Parts: sequence; structure tokens; C-alpha cells
Amino acid sequence: MSVLIKGGRIVTAADDYVGDVYIEGERVSLVGESLDVSADRTIDAAGKYVLPGCVDPHTHLDMPFGGTVTIDDVTSGQTSAAFGGTTCHVDFVIQSPGQSFAEALETWRGKAEGKQVIDMGYHMAVTDLKEGGSLEELATLPDQGVTSYKLFMAYKGALMVDDETLFRTMEVAAETGALVMVHAENGDAIDVLVKQALAAGHTEPWYHALTRPPELEGEATNRAIQLARVAGCPLYVVHVSCKEAADPIARARRLGWDVWGETCTQYLFVDYTFLERPDFEGAKYVYTPPPRPKENQDVLWDAVRTDVLSVISTDHCAFLWDGQKTMGRDDFSKIPNGGPGLENRLHMIHELGVRAGRISLNRMVELLATSPAKLFGLYPRKGTIAVGSDADLVVFDPERRHVLSAATHHSKADYNLYEGTEVTGEVDVVLLRGNVLVENGELVASPGIGRFVERARFGERIKTPASV
Ligand code: URP
Ligand code: ZN
Ligand code: ZN
Repeated sequence: MSVLIKGGRIVTAADDYVGDVYIEGERVSLVGESLDVSADRTIDAAGKYVLPGCVDPHTHLDMPFGGTVTIDDVTSGQTSAAFGGTTCHVDFVIQSPGQSFAEALETWRGKAEGKQVIDMGYHMAVTDLKEGGSLEELATLPDQGVTSYKLFMAYKGALMVDDETLFRTMEVAAETGALVMVHAENGDAIDVLVKQALAAGHTEPWYHALTRPPELEGEATNRAIQLARVAGCPLYVVHVSCKEAADPIARARRLGWDVWGETCTQYLFVDYTFLERPDFEGAKYVYTPPPRPKENQDVLWDAVRTDVLSVISTDHCAFLWDGQKTMGRDDFSKIPNGGPGLENRLHMIHELGVRAGRISLNRMVELLATSPAKLFGLYPRKGTIAVGSDADLVVFDPERRHVLSAATHHSKADYNLYEGTEVTGEVDVVLLRGNVLVENGELVASPGIGRFVERARFGERIKTPASV
């Protein structure tokens, strides 16, 4: 099967020009001006952008968490992603206490088997190095294409690890070429503040933010950076929400250390006041780190513009408001932490970033596709438009206006973090490895088309036909 995408404005992290993309089978085989080729199918992209499929390195599908399970499974979450122009994501395998890494990986791959709509990889969330997986077993994961280890420095009594586990994992990563990812908040101090707030009778959703102050995110971020420096491993700090965490990352990067950071769409739009919305609506915005005072948004935009933060992810971790978030009506600490977002990252960043003049189109592609692909061992198969790359492509109409809403999104979540936001720019057609996935507002491929991708080690390039 061959496809010709004709006359679109091809935008990558580096380039921006009008041309054609010719796809044979699953890969891009030619890119150029007015290509003289015949194709089984031609897609007219005049007046549209042709972008690389976006890569989301931070999602949680079908994850037991906070006394319940996230509402989006692999099919609904990935369908939602596809409608938003995301064609590859990296989800988290969460090691249960006492479980080996092999068992954990098998459990999570079982959840995805036959259900995949887009391509995916896994990070391994390490929770237990004593009774469960060993350091030796951890060291074998990169050979299986799982080339990043995630550690939670918060969620005491659940996912949180101590500094010994964090540091030992970092030492393994330094040996194996894996990237270490951290959820950086001081979980011990937060635990004290939560108990004190509840003892004082403070049960409302906004106490989620008041018990997780930005200083505790900054402290843990700096601690992780210093530990990674001693261990000699590369470090990626997830969901940076505030100046206190962005500053130590900026310093480390100025010094040339192997430290990277991401923020998420929601931190650039939702602020602390959303948590104060009446009738328990604030619970929709209970995710971690919490929405911060508005002034942090300018700090984060500066950071994504200047590459202090290199990626914008979604941290999609969707729960129903009615029935799941409401578990915490009388106690904010029982509200499951997380929100939906996989579908609207490109819409929102195009609107708030590019159209508002904060970042260029090239930088948007870099933040949403190229940098995550490079950092997580998917580049150049994913994250760009080049001869030999997977034909994961998005034809994006920069003029189409629409309103973001739970009534029209494809996640199973019963609310949308950006409800009622009008944006200009919509995904027209999405291709995954040359197969049309989304067209005319419909999913036209069936679950099972997506694949597991073995990722390369940090700093190495995954092979494409053009590179072998
Ligand atoms: O609230 C959040 N972010 N839930 C997902 C788990 C995590 O901390 O990333
Ligand atoms: Zn987290
Ligand atoms: Zn997360």
C-alpha cells in the first residue's frame, strides 16, 4: 500500500516547507516538492500542516491507583490519543510489592494485548528492590526495550521509594544506559502536612495543594539531581509544575549535567483556583503535583521556550468524577490523583503556545514529538518526518475551530480538564505506520493495529531502514 500526502506544510522540529510525503508500506520513502509518483491513495493536504505523530512519554492506562483503577484502558486511552494526533506513547508498568520485574511486565503487556490502537513502550516503575525484583533483574530490562526506570519520591505507603532504592536504581541505570525518571516531591513531609490538615478538619479539595507546597517539589527535584550526579546516570524529572522545581533543573542544565525535565499541558492552563470550584468540582483538578498559583505558568512557558524543560506530556491518568473522584468527598486525601488529557495536548499547545505567540511551530513539534522520541529511544523511527521513519503522520487543519468538551472527547472520563475552551486547529487525518487511523472524525482502524516498540538505550538511536 502506498500513500501520497500532497502539498502540505511539512513541519518538523527543524524544517518548515510545502511539499509531499510519499509512504510505501509502513515507512516514509520520499519527501520532496511535487513528487512525480503514483500512489494507491492520495491525501490532499493543501493549507494544512503535516506533522510527525506526537509522542507522549507520560501516561497511565488501566492503572490501579488511589483505591481504584484509572478509567481508560489501553483501547479507550489510545483512541483518545489518536484523535489528538498522538501515535506513540510510553506508559508505566508499576511493579507491585513482592513482584519481579518480569512478572510486572507480563501483567502490563497482558493488559495491552490485542487492544492497541497506537504504538507504545513501557517505563518500569520500581517500587520494591527488597522482596520483589533484584538489581540484577533490573539491569536486564534495557535488553527487552524497557530503557527507563521510574521512581516515585512521593505517595508514602503506596508507590514511594526511599533514597536507598532511588540511589541504587540510579547506579544500575548508570551501568545499563537506562534513563531514570522521578516524580519529585518530598513524600515524608507531605504525609505530615496531610495528617495535620485532616486533624484540623480541613477536608476540601484545595487542601490537596496546600499540603503539597512547591518547596517540597523543589527540594525533591534538587535531591534527585544531586543523587543522579553522584550515581552518574541521566535524569528526567516528570511533571514539573513550579519555579521551585524548574530552577534546579535550569542550574543543572547550565552546568551541562545530564538532566532533563517535562511539564504537562494542565500546568500551563489550570491554576490553584480551579481547586476551589464549588460543589466538589475542584476534585476534577486533584492531580499531583497540584495546580499552582497562576504566576508559575509564565515560568513554565519560559522554561519550555528555552529548553530548561524539553517535553510537554499529558500525565493522562483519568478517573470518573462521579464515582471515583467522589470517593474523597469527605477527605481530600482519598480523591484519586490524576486527570485526563491525552487527546488535547496538541490542541492546547497549538492554541496557548503557537497561536498565542509563546513558541514557534517548530518548537511545538520538538516538545510534543521530537524531544520525547529522542529522550526515550524512539528517534528517528518516531518523532520526525524523514526517509526511513515510521509513517506516523498528522494532517492538521490550523484554521478549524472547535470547543474541547467531555461531550465529544474519546476518553471514558466524564469531564474534560479544558471543558468549554475554544481552540483553532484540529486534527484531520492521522496515520500510524502508513495506515489511516483517524479520518472524518472517525477511528477507521481496529484495535490490534498498535504495536509494542522496543526502545533504544539512552542516547542511542533506534534503527530505521535508512540508518542500517
Ligand atoms: O496525579 C497524578 N499525577 N497521577 C498520576 C500518577 C503520577 O504521579 O504521575
Ligand atoms: Zn507523578
Ligand atoms: Zn504520572
